[in-house]
Amino acid sequence: APGPVSPPGAAIAVVGGSGLYSLFESPVRRTVETPYGAPSDDVAVGELAGRPVAFLPRHGPGHRFPPHRINYRANLWSLAEAGARRVIGVSAVGGLSPDLAPGGLVVPDQLVDRTSGRPQTFFDGPETAHAPFADPYCGPGRAAVLAAARSCGRPATDGGTQVVVEGPRFSTRAESRWYAAQGWSLIGMTALPEVSLARELGLCYLPLCLVTDMDAGVEQGSGVTQDEVMELFAANLAVVGDILATLVADLPDDLGCDCADLAPKPL
Ligand code: ADE
Repeated sequence: APGPVSPPGAAIAVVGGSGLYSLFESPVRRTVETPYGAPSDDVAVGELAGRPVAFLPRHGPGHRFPPHRINYRANLWSLAEAGARRVIGVSAVGGLSPDLAPGGLVVPDQLVDRTSGRPQTFFDGPETAHAPFADPYCGPGRAAVLAAARSCGRPATDGGTQVVVEGPRFSTRAESRWYAAQGWSLIGMTALPEVSLARELGLCYLPLCLVTDMDAGVEQGSGVTQDEVMELFAANLAVVGDILATLVADLPDDLGCDCADLAPKPL
């Protein structure tokens, strides 16, 4: 059955999105080969809040992998192999709801898949399995992210549905208004299949989203631009780092969740 054999290592992993490319000053770098090819980068293992943490920049060094070219399977596999049981996923997202403004933090609780053609599963046959995914994120893990944001003085919005688009282009105004009309509050390009692959490996996934823009349905002029996304993230990098350190420091060894049991067994 899929699942790397992991030595005891960093039980907590962080995946950094656009604008978050490193976490440690002098990490131990692990080059991991996986059955699915190479991950976006070496896994960087370092210490955060006195605990070993594994870090992987989702888009690779120099942001070389666009969302549709990221080897999500290799990324998740390499983190599990480094010992990870929890994955904290940091992402820049667009806001689709009027009560979210750029600079706002959100801990979403639902996902909608508008990607296409991405390798989605470790169970690609002959081994077949269907992962339960009604609640894509670790519940107690989400609560821990919310608590960490609150104690850093930047409370995050609790819940919301993120639509994951194929990209790499941003959305048209019509697409954006349509997504908003469904009641979806966030838009991004990478949460799937990252979160569902974590579920297949029985990992907890803890999301931390930073709203960088209001997407095309609201924004005037040319709509969202990549410069806008990167600038907003850079301006908030320090608080994201604070929240990650607080979260890692406070995360209990046992979250009391059933994420590990939700890893599907082959039929
Ligand atoms: N990431 C950040 N902002 C985004 C947007 N508006 N659409 C898709 N992905 C994003």
